[in-house]
Amino acid sequence: MEIFLDTAELEEIKFASSLGVIDGVTTNPSLIKKAVERRRGEISMVDYIKEILKLVPGPVSLEVISVKAEDMISEAKKLYKLFSPYGEVVIKIPICPSTDGESNVYDGLGAIRELKEAGIPTNVTLVMTPEQALLAAKAGADYVSPFAGRIDDYIRDQLGMKMDADYGKADYFDFELMRKLADEQLRRIIESRGDFSLRGAYIDEEIRDAANAGHDNGIYSGVDLVKKILAIYRNYKYSTKVIAASMRNARQVREMAELGVDIVTIPFYVLKEMLLHYKTIEGMRFFIADVVPQYKRIFEE
Ligand code: G3P
Repeated sequence: MEIFLDTAELEEIKFASSLGVIDGVTTNPSLIKKAVERRRGEISMVDYIKEILKLVPGPVSLEVISVKAEDMISEAKKLYKLFSPYGEVVIKIPICPSTDGESNVYDGLGAIRELKEAGIPTNVTLVMTPEQALLAAKAGADYVSPFAGRIDDYIRDQLGMKMDADYGKADYFDFELMRKLADEQLRRIIESRGDFSLRGAYIDEEIRDAANAGHDNGIYSGVDLVKKILAIYRNYKYSTKVIAASMRNARQVREMAELGVDIVTIPFYVLKEMLLHYKTIEGMRFFIADVVPQYKRIFEE
């Protein structure tokens, strides 16, 4: 599995690349905004992106900023021309760049298709369903980025849970527990009905609502989203690579690796989390405390 860093922070990229575990980088306008704000605006964007590209041994995703296919295509061409002499540029195109659900719905697909023909690699972003991923692959996407963490957020938000109050952004979403709880709730409602008929239960609104709780139209978590995309791609042998994105914690990375996802793109703090374990640190303390002088001398002579 390849590991990309999901950041526009030069220092993080420099450090992680020096460790030899980073295969690429993904950026987006929000990550670029953070990097610019941290430097109080004192940043030449073009030079900064060139630096990133020079440091990274693999693909660096840069995102377009428009919503119309023709504008995204010309931005993609501009980014590609400007930066590909410095590294491996991949252009991020939103799967559905609509901001109202009516306009620009198909513009992402149009842009992917045309960029494919122009030989410019694309990473299709903001993917929240397997259906979107299927269309992205058909249009010729080189990569798709399902946003795992945001699906976990969405499922919890739909249940009335609030980020920061009921769960932290980086918390692992225990979808198996959620599934058990949702099943239990459904069981209790059905039980409370007394007389049971299949027809009666199936058209009962409260029962239907309970059956629809704890998942997003049959997607039980961000990991489940990626699992279903991989299954569809394998069914039809699509060559589009899957980048598990919007990653929030190390356990999510493990579960993505178990699925056999091609790539995960992680924020810098997740890299640290992947290394830490209480017993590893405790073990280190014991080893250091147990070093006898005779053994130490080997290294001093
Ligand atoms: O990879 C996409 C990512 O940058 C979004 O992450 O944590 O803001 O949902 P997040």
